[in-house]
Amino acid sequence: MVDQGTFYQRDRSWHPPAFSAPYKTTVLRSPQQPLLSLENTISELTGPVFGHDKIGPLDNDLIRNYAKTGDPIGQRIVVYGRVLDENARPVPGALLEFWQANAGGRYRHKKETYLAAIDPNFGGCGRAITDEDGRFWFRTIKPGAYPWPNGVNDWRPAHIHFSVFGHAFAQRLITQMYFEGDPMIWQDPIVATIPDKTAIEQLVAALDRENTLPMDSLAYKFDIVLRGRRSTMFENRMEGN
Ligand SMILES: [Fe+2]
Repeated sequence: MVDQGTFYQRDRSWHPPAFSAPYKTTVLRSPQQPLLSLENTISELTGPVFGHDKIGPLDNDLIRNYAKTGDPIGQRIVVYGRVLDENARPVPGALLEFWQANAGGRYRHKKETYLAAIDPNFGGCGRAITDEDGRFWFRTIKPGAYPWPNGVNDWRPAHIHFSVFGHAFAQRLITQMYFEGDPMIWQDPIVATIPDKTAIEQLVAALDRENTLPMDSLAYKFDIVLRGRRSTMFENRMEGN
């Protein structure tokens, strides 16, 4: 039996409200009715599950996993950290997925219309499984900022999207990682929906000179806390528990 630990009531001063007018898409998508709570079924709690053999050797290498003619353009970085529970215990075996724009701020997606160029050697997505100490790492290209249709001239700061799976696919959390020292973070209408400055700062990966790869890559450290007062702000949990 998996230790589910103590239940921590969700801290609503930490997570942003579902409705935030300056973030325009929340206006239509935020619930207008009281939420219904549905019990998970046994199939949602037990499966489907993923096999560790499904992770390929290049899945945590975004510099190489889509490369065709050479390395992608941009600043090479390593992103690493740990997935921890609310008691700072490591969470092993968690499947992390990450996706991001390329160095010019362009996603490789058929609905993407931003004029920055696609990089033929960069796909922008990958995944990793945490080890027995809850650790993960991957290498990639630092993403660029990009404009988005919200206000007259809103730009997203450089960021990497993260998905964290728990013991079953019904347990999925999604968040975003930002980069230390980026002034765009504090101008972003999405970031601005988070009411607590400390919660925002926990989404900002620290530049870590200790773990840079000399003549190769800078390193950024990003820990993800799943629950409790120090919980990472998860954007798909805005509407309720
Ligand atoms: Fe994005």
